[in-house]
Amino acid sequence: MSTTIKGQEAFLNNYKPLPIIIDKGVGNYVYDSEGNEYLDFVAGIATNALGYSYEPLKKAVQAQVEKFTHCSNLYYNKPSIDAANKLVELSGLDQVFFCNSGAEANEAALKLAKRYTNEYVNPNKTKIISMKNSFHGRTIATVSATGQTKYHEGFSPLFEGIVYSEFNNIEALEAAMTEDVAILMIEPIQGEGGIRPAEKAFLEAARQMCDDKEVVLIFDEVQCGIGRTGTVFAYEQYGVKPDIVSLAKGLGAGFVIGAIVANAKVGQGFVPGTHASTFGGNPIGTTAANVVLDALVHEGVLDNVKQQGAYLEVELKKLQDKYPCIIDVRGKGLMLAIELNAPVSEIITGALKRNLMLINSGTHIVRFVPPLTIEKKDIDKMIQILDQLIAQF
Ligand SMILES: Cc1ncc(COP(=O)(O)O)c(C=O)c1O
Repeated sequence: MSTTIKGQEAFLNNYKPLPIIIDKGVGNYVYDSEGNEYLDFVAGIATNALGYSYEPLKKAVQAQVEKFTHCSNLYYNKPSIDAANKLVELSGLDQVFFCNSGAEANEAALKLAKRYTNEYVNPNKTKIISMKNSFHGRTIATVSATGQTKYHEGFSPLFEGIVYSEFNNIEALEAAMTEDVAILMIEPIQGEGGIRPAEKAFLEAARQMCDDKEVVLIFDEVQCGIGRTGTVFAYEQYGVKPDIVSLAKGLGAGFVIGAIVANAKVGQGFVPGTHASTFGGNPIGTTAANVVLDALVHEGVLDNVKQQGAYLEVELKKLQDKYPCIIDVRGKGLMLAIELNAPVSEIITGALKRNLMLINSGTHIVRFVPPLTIEKKDIDKMIQILDQLIAQF
């Protein structure tokens, strides 16, 4: 494996990629330009929900490419109508806005919540509460809402009026819920913050406080949504429904798409001209979303997440019993993590050398977010390699 890639100087310096060039993928495996095979437990950062070369996805997208690839929101297109209706039906919410990424979905959620509050609740309510340790994206508003200072450095002045409250702390949230709060934004399972699930009582209390104080509750399910935890939406497992849910990543299984789904009350905040996205609802991304949603519900992918997620968790706990350096195993479905008592960067690079793709989440945490199509034999193989890596840790 070389350490530099020919042509890498053409990029701005904001990423630090591992030195391989991905050439293709088949099933749960990826191949680089030199023909090396890698078992994928990263899935393009919880995005390639159906692995690679998933036949129904290829066929549907190829057929759509033959027809047309873009038409703007000046007109309707059938794939976006179908995808919107599926999201409405599955979410129990009422109306969809499509965009192109998680950050854009969260921007749309914040704008919708703000405009609804200004028009229908009280324009003096201006504050946003988000969680410490959260991650909501890299635009100025979403990076400001992100409750981790390392993402803020060098970007001041940030978007105003954001208060960071401790995750899973009901008393702290109560104290932060002053009369001027308009929006509460929570990831039901914090992804970039180390795979930390919300407690049920916390989300229930959050919902109650939002109802009592006319605050819009946004769940950011960009990483934990779309089957990742074993239900289409993670909030289903908590029995707590948000006013708006934001989605991206797995929704397109690798095709570019983001979305918010809102209830009809808060949905009133948008009227023609108030928000837009040129590519939003693009027929390629929404064709992919239709395949993904059908695969989750009708092709057994959700069942696979439940089954393989439970198996992976058991296997990770066995490693924890074997190695005291693993101080925690946590997560839901196929969004799992181990926390170690030292930085994990050598595990990530060591795994790649052994043809296994892994990703960290913070310095001490290895997360496991494979394709939702992962199989038992893939998990066994991954665990075997991880065991060897941790033995040398
Ligand atoms: C919970 C959450 N929200 C928002 C984002 C931003 O998504 P994107 O990178 O598509 O803008 C991410 C990305 O990791 C995420 O995990």
